[in-house]
Amino acid sequence: MRSESEVPFSDQPFNIPVAERVKRLPPYLFGKINKLKYEKRVEGVDVIDLGMGNPTDTPDPLIIEKMAEALNDPRNHRYSVSNGIANLRKEVSARYWKKYGVRLDPDTEVVTCIGSKEGFSHLCLALMGPGDTAIVPAPYFPIHVYAVALASGNVISLDCRDPQQFLTNIEYTCKHQYPKPKLVIVNFPHNPTTTVVDQTFYDDLVALAKKYGFLVISDFAYSDICFDGYKAPSFLASQGAIDVGVEFTTMSKGFSMAGWRVGFCTGNAEMVRALSTIKGYYDYGLFQPTQIAAIVALRHCEAAVESVSAEYQLRRDALCDGLERIGWELERPKGTMFVWAKIPEPWAEMGSIDFSMKLLDEGGVAVSPGRGFGEDGEGFLRLAIVENTQRLRQAVRQIDRCLNKNPTISDTE
Ligand SMILES: Cc1ncc(COP(=O)(O)O)c(C=O)c1O
Repeated sequence: MRSESEVPFSDQPFNIPVAERVKRLPPYLFGKINKLKYEKRVEGVDVIDLGMGNPTDTPDPLIIEKMAEALNDPRNHRYSVSNGIANLRKEVSARYWKKYGVRLDPDTEVVTCIGSKEGFSHLCLALMGPGDTAIVPAPYFPIHVYAVALASGNVISLDCRDPQQFLTNIEYTCKHQYPKPKLVIVNFPHNPTTTVVDQTFYDDLVALAKKYGFLVISDFAYSDICFDGYKAPSFLASQGAIDVGVEFTTMSKGFSMAGWRVGFCTGNAEMVRALSTIKGYYDYGLFQPTQIAAIVALRHCEAAVESVSAEYQLRRDALCDGLERIGWELERPKGTMFVWAKIPEPWAEMGSIDFSMKLLDEGGVAVSPGRGFGEDGEGFLRLAIVENTQRLRQAVRQIDRCLNKNPTISDTE
């Protein structure tokens, strides 16, 4: 199974003359860990895998039933339409209105994607080319950089952990770089650091976009996974946002439909049209039963999304309580499916890749090293809360035993 952290390319040179765009992809830093994870499993070790943001939960039964019903309809096995069937786009528009008070024209301001990652990548291809620059939040979710690089664009990554400073640095870059950046990518709640923002952040971003003439892509993958009453704001809810940008949402996280590959791009009609144009050449849209089941999910399963989010909050608490108890320094996330933790002092010098290898090799727990998200991620680990609370407590016990001669947590707890 491959994912954000299991990209098969760029760790080994090709023996054929591949295109320059493939050669200029950044080095692949999860390779060593994935190899060890595989070897441990072959040895029979029950690895607790907190490496990937890949939900282990299943979608609401209503969604699965609708899929099964749609599969039995012979009309649903033909090519579908690339931008998504009309009723699905209408549901997306209705949900934006209900959740964020944003009005979207389902015909011109919504397009369905084969997962938001596909849409994001193809939109970068539609917007970026040689000589164009995109600002990307750092530490970075790999596809934010890869998609721009594959489109032959250049990347400037700016630390986003202090959102106000991030805005200041965006403005500084726009003032001092020639040609100015064409695109700014934002992603809050942020993967991997879990940083969140409020609506005023987007108000200020829209003002900057208008002042300096850049476009905005908001990757809103974790819109539905928020904790402690925090509600993640939509970029599109800021006045004028639709003049300058689009937002990607996904059914992978809140609806636990990661393998179904359903995502959406919404907002600026010209950007939506640019993406639809590229997609129109490349694909025939999602399998129609998937789209029909997604309609039912959006129409009837909001309560399930809320309980998924509540479950992630319990998992966050189980993991953070445990890690704090064994002396780790971390900030409890207000959203996402991750905990972003500093490597404890005695091991900080090892670096995040070797420290992650140690946790996997000696503790049987797989995590993502911060370095895999660029240089700004060094010194940290990302732990995905995709296992149940019991397994997460077990993971902490195993980490404790792997690092401490005299473990803090006793065997009987
Ligand atoms: C920030 C971010 N964007 C996009 C995605 C991909 O979502 P999708 O499954 O819709 O392609 C992920 C998945 O991990 C993510 O973390």
